Amino acid sequence: RQCVGAAGGWSLAAAAAARSVLWPLPQQLDQSADRNSLSPQRFSFIYGRDSAAQTGCSVLDAAFKRYFSIIFPDFTKGSGLLMSENKSIRYTSVSSVTTVSAVSVKTRGCDGYPDEDSDESYNLSVSEGQAVLRSVTVWGALRGLESFSQLVYQDDYGSYFINKTEIVDFPRFAFRGLLLDTSRHYLPLHAILKTLDAMAYSKFNVFHWHIVDDPSFPYQSRTFPDLSNKGAFHPFTHVYTQSDVMRVIEHARMRGIRVVPEFDSPGHTLSWGKGQPNLLTPCYKGDVPSGSFGPVDPTVDTTYKFMESLLKEVKFVFPDSYVHLGGDEVSFACWQSNPNVRTFMEKMGFGKDFTKLESFYMESIMNMTAALNRTSIVWQDVFDYRERIPQDTVLEIWKGETYQAELSRMTQAGHRVLLSAPWYINHISYGQDWRNSYAVQPQNFSGTEEQKKLVIGGEVAMWGEYVDATNLNPRLWPRACAAAERLWSDEEKTLDADLAFPRLEKFRCELLRYWKYVCNHSLSTSASFQWHSAHSK
Ligand SMILES: *[C@@H]1O[C@H](CO)[C@@H](O)[C@H](O)[C@H]1NC(C)=O
Ligand SMILES: *[C@@H]1O[C@H](CO)[C@@H](O)[C@H](O)[C@H]1NC(C)=O
Ligand SMILES: *[C@@H]1O[C@H](CO)[C@@H](O)[C@H](O)[C@H]1NC(C)=O
Ligand SMILES: *[C@@H]1O[C@H](CO)[C@@H](O)[C@H](O)[C@H]1NC(C)=O
Ligand SMILES: *[C@@H]1O[C@H](CO)[C@@H](O)[C@H](O)[C@H]1NC(C)=O
Ligand SMILES: *[C@@H]1O[C@H](CO)[C@@H](O)[C@H](O)[C@H]1NC(C)=O
Ligand SMILES: *[C@@H]1O[C@H](CO)[C@@H](O)[C@H](O)[C@H]1NC(C)=O
Repeated sequence: RQCVGAAGGWSLAAAAAARSVLWPLPQQLDQSADRNSLSPQRFSFIYGRDSAAQTGCSVLDAAFKRYFSIIFPDFTKGSGLLMSENKSIRYTSVSSVTTVSAVSVKTRGCDGYPDEDSDESYNLSVSEGQAVLRSVTVWGALRGLESFSQLVYQDDYGSYFINKTEIVDFPRFAFRGLLLDTSRHYLPLHAILKTLDAMAYSKFNVFHWHIVDDPSFPYQSRTFPDLSNKGAFHPFTHVYTQSDVMRVIEHARMRGIRVVPEFDSPGHTLSWGKGQPNLLTPCYKGDVPSGSFGPVDPTVDTTYKFMESLLKEVKFVFPDSYVHLGGDEVSFACWQSNPNVRTFMEKMGFGKDFTKLESFYMESIMNMTAALNRTSIVWQDVFDYRERIPQDTVLEIWKGETYQAELSRMTQAGHRVLLSAPWYINHISYGQDWRNSYAVQPQNFSGTEEQKKLVIGGEVAMWGEYVDATNLNPRLWPRACAAAERLWSDEEKTLDADLAFPRLEKFRCELLRYWKYVCNHSLSTSASFQWHSAHSK
């Protein structure tokens, strides 16, 4: 694929080799120097004869189209041959050099949603004149199509090639997430959709939508429209309507990505209070209310009724079986100041221990969530307070330095864990900070093999304090790719960041092209410069 423009000084073959990119690295990869040419006019994706999925499979029909134009951008733009009125990509003019990429999926299911048990494995075999992609599910086929697209490259004259290749591939972790925060800054829909596209390119499979928080409540609720009417930055322009949310979920589904919403409480809820009176705890100054509000008031029934209605709606709107309930960073000062809360504490026998109060609240809403047949994810704080936690609750680690010890403790208690602490990539620093993300070893902590299996994956977090649509992409990409590879690929084969760097550099070019930029030579040279200077140290 044309990535670097004119490959000044390189031999054609070297340039071609360098242009072939696979990110994340497949589990088993065998590439040869047998180069086959591909002709857009004669190329087609077809369903294998033995495939359970056939024409009409929504996910794959759309993916064939999408990947055709990703693989042959010039062709798609130029001739318009592809985009005829018939949507299926199929050329009837069969000739002996037609490259057919046959996709065979073992199990049916094109209209469902990817979930925690989805089998994303695939095998891809590219030989002369044909490619065969085999997977168990359509989600695996999507991963394989992505790899296939990354194998295709263009020479300086614009001809397309793909080398003979054998791939056996599957993810190391089932949960490979990316968090966007749409409360601190509103992100327009297109920024979210573009992020989903880019996630698919590096095989992320969960979009953790931190949709509301203190600063704003952009989720337009059917049950409680005042939450966004009063709590969003703007009630019409800075909200996600029900149809926006549907669009995100469908766009994600088409790329094999789950959407896990987070409705973080009892802290991080200031914006909720604007549209839902009596939800938040009034803080007191001495004997009188100070006029400011603290976390959700855990002492009154109305709070639980409200949370139950909201969670019911969430279940209805978001098909994923997981919902993130937050539970982090609850400040106790306001609770402490409020006489009703203090009375409640006494009544419940919590003494002066406000962690018990938070426990009580979180346990109640985790119970509600379980009753709705949903699995809760909560931030590590909930575990740190030693609350009784339903065993199937997933705990997410976000606190920096001590994450290895936390991994040990949580898995020892039998909980499934997500690791996010080392991947807060909203933090930026000069130079190649992707190397820190890359060096993370999610299963390197003291514990048994059984404990290590409880690490179900991790998440890159892009918190929104200083991030909006103008700087989201450059902050996310390619930096998030480091975690994507760590979560997908074999760790033994990807320990060396120096070896990964040229591949990442090329993958960056690919990403730029998806955004309709051309990978600029001077940028590429400066990256190479860093690469060399890293070596000469
Ligand atoms: C692809 O084939 C070309 C031409 O034979 C060769 O130079 C190149 O190294 C091959 N690429 C890979 C990744 O094996
Ligand atoms: C497109 O082609 C498919 C498969 O050949 C066929 O089933 C379908 O009816 C066609 N659709 C249109 C709109 O012509
Ligand atoms: C892929 O190949 C491996 C090893 O040959 C095999 O065990 C696995 O079943 C294959 N997967 C699919 C989806 O065909
Ligand atoms: C949550 O559910 C468990 C198990 O049913 C129960 O023992 C516990 O009292 C419930 N907690 C709250 C706060 O409702
Ligand atoms: C609960 O959720 C699981 C997983 O999403 C699903 O398979 C099951 O059918 C659901 N059970 C009920 C009673 O809705
Ligand atoms: C695990 O981490 C420790 C330090 O935290 C390091 O010394 C060790 O080499 C790592 N283990 C492996 C297998 O890389
Ligand atoms: C690369 O960047 C330079 C400086 O911004 C610009 O002049 C040049 O046109 C760019 N080249 C390509 C191929 O985009």
